[in-house]
Amino acid sequence: GALVIIYEDHKHMSALRVEPGKTLNNRFGAFRHNDMVGRRYGAQLLSLDGRKYVYLLRPTPELWTASLSHRTQILYIADISMICLQLELGPGAVVVEAGTGSGSLSHALARAVGPTGRLHTYEF
Ligand SMILES: C[S@@+](CC[C@H](N)C(=O)[O-])C[C@H]1O[C@@H](n2cnc3c(N)ncnc32)[C@H](O)[C@@H]1O
Repeated sequence: GALVIIYEDHKHMSALRVEPGKTLNNRFGAFRHNDMVGRRYGAQLLSLDGRKYVYLLRPTPELWTASLSHRTQILYIADISMICLQLELGPGAVVVEAGTGSGSLSHALARAVGPTGRLHTYEF
């Protein structure tokens, strides 16, 4: 049930919900979800044929942005950084965001305000 970022290389990564019994297929081969269960974030996972590997990474706002498919316009790290800086965001801040979209910005806003802050994000 954990969400994990499957890291192939810095240009190829994807978010995956681990579901025992399933198999992930990508250009590096086949990877059993069962083999992900119980592994630590950061672990290397060998493909079934043992020829290639991926890394299992803990999701972060940066990795979420990098792993989104780019069918629609999303905000990227440079603009997200500038927005957080100019809003002087920090723990406890309250933010209202219009246009959640894929949540590329939302994840960074939520982390910046922390558990004592609040993010209200609206998507129609
Ligand atoms: C360019 S996308 C936003 C991407 C998002 N900021 C991200 O980084 O993933 C714009 C989003 O705003 C939504 N949107 C546009 N007008 C809106 C409105 N008036 N109220 C709420 N959402 C709106 C669209 O449906 C779309 O999902």
